[in-house]
Amino acid sequence: MAYTAKDYTSLIGIDGFSETLLTNHFTLYQGYVTNTNKLTDLLTALLKVGKAGTPEYAELKRRFGFEFNGMRLHEYYFENLGGKSPIDRSGKVFKKLVDACGSYEDWEQDFKATGTMRGIGWVVLYQDNTNGELFNQWINEHESGHLAGSQPVLVMDVFEHAFITDYGLKRADYIAAFFKNINWGEVESRLR
Ligand SMILES: [Fe+2]
Repeated sequence: MAYTAKDYTSLIGIDGFSETLLTNHFTLYQGYVTNTNKLTDLLTALLKVGKAGTPEYAELKRRFGFEFNGMRLHEYYFENLGGKSPIDRSGKVFKKLVDACGSYEDWEQDFKATGTMRGIGWVVLYQDNTNGELFNQWINEHESGHLAGSQPVLVMDVFEHAFITDYGLKRADYIAAFFKNINWGEVESRLR
């Protein structure tokens, strides 16, 4: 069953993100959806003609994690944007972040420091499904570094396309804008 790109145009107008940046980002996301579907079809076709043992099959198989995670991480990202209010200091997310890092401020510092690491990728706040623990994790490109059996709770894109149009090389300024637009209600709904 093919995936369909979701519509995030309602995000246009959020503070700190230009329409050009967001529109280009939506187009990139749609490319991941298209390529996820394309890879599924290509792999199925190769399997059906007995070519599963070929280098072509192997490379497409490797590629699948890149395209699929490129699709899904963008969905988490766009869906945890568009918030209008700061984190609820009496809420469940706040309490879990304090439990994880000692204070909300330390958690935020760690998340932002992870996001300003050199390289392209993502920062994902994960919840381990086995014990509820939270971790800020660096994802290289789209597919390397995911924590098995864990739920993405907050996702931030730090590929250059996510900010360079509006912020040049000032990644920290983009991250500050990202924080002003976090949809904490969505984040809370992802917590176990
Ligand atoms: Fe992106």
